[in-house]
Amino acid sequence: MDIVEIRLKDLKPDKFVDEQVNAIQTAVGKGLAVNALSGGVDSSAVTMIAHRALGPRLKTYFIENGIMREGEPQRIVKLFRKLGVPVELVDSKAQFFAALKGKTDPEEKREAITQTFYKEVFGKLVRDSGAKFLLQGTNYTDVEETLAGIKRQHNILEQLGIDTQAVFGYKVLEPIIQLRKTGVRKVAKALGLPEEICNRPPFPGPALSARVIGEVTPERVEVVRKATKIVEDMLKDSGAFQYLAILHEDKVTGIRNGRREFGNQIEIRCWESTDAVTAKPTNLSFATLTKLGKAITSKVPGVVSVTYNVAHKPPSTIEAV
Ligand code: XMP
Repeated sequence: MDIVEIRLKDLKPDKFVDEQVNAIQTAVGKGLAVNALSGGVDSSAVTMIAHRALGPRLKTYFIENGIMREGEPQRIVKLFRKLGVPVELVDSKAQFFAALKGKTDPEEKREAITQTFYKEVFGKLVRDSGAKFLLQGTNYTDVEETLAGIKRQHNILEQLGIDTQAVFGYKVLEPIIQLRKTGVRKVAKALGLPEEICNRPPFPGPALSARVIGEVTPERVEVVRKATKIVEDMLKDSGAFQYLAILHEDKVTGIRNGRREFGNQIEIRCWESTDAVTAKPTNLSFATLTKLGKAITSKVPGVVSVTYNVAHKPPSTIEAV
């Protein structure tokens, strides 16, 4: 690919930020730009860089797509407001669930999210605001994995030959595309973002839908959202690279209060990795695993089975979808 990676040893965060601020100012000129903040380190870093470059000529949106983690939209909007960056929360839940309805194929689900995000939601926001540019936090690994045909990352467009100007009506700017995650974390720190953002475990663009096997409905997302909260709370001090809960499509027979319950299965994954390209399962203690099992089956309605993934990436991937 023609994008040149900036390796960690060559990265000077302050210089990098200055260069990107200049590049954004040159590209946008006196016009307006919009950007989507999800609260991950990538979009958070881009929000800060673009805000520095454009000030009030940048409009930042948090798209509430219905597939985010518990309390996340409100928490992130509040955090950025405190940093002096106004963020508008856009309720697009109905549009995303309508697009996902009836879809079970992983790549079709990812494509539905991409189209809803770029065409419907941002197409309208851009038209209404008069902006000509969308800034987003695509990183080097996203591009690499998409081009390798492993998973279509929802934010990859131009590198797949998509002319965003023609298809969606705006140009996409990607200030951190030359960096991998560790580099982005360094830049985020230099931008003054708080520790909880700089060191956040990665979270996928397609959000919890990457963790729902089969159809993504509001009810099924709620199950995985509750399980995610338990897994994140219990494993936050594990030092692992990433930890997550997955909702399986198949149900299994369980028993609760002496009665048969044909219920859901949750799979827990906890990964050791440095770059997400390869990963191995964390050696969690059996006590931790059974504690997770008990918490999930007692606090998440309808879950009767909890398993732990012991496969490596490859051939597994970190997310399930
Ligand atoms: P996989 O599942 O491909 O994930 O092993 C590798 C890393 O990327 C994250 N991930 C995504 N990140 N958009 C993103 O920004 C996506 O579409 C996406 N899919 C997976 C995943 O959480 C892991 O850290």
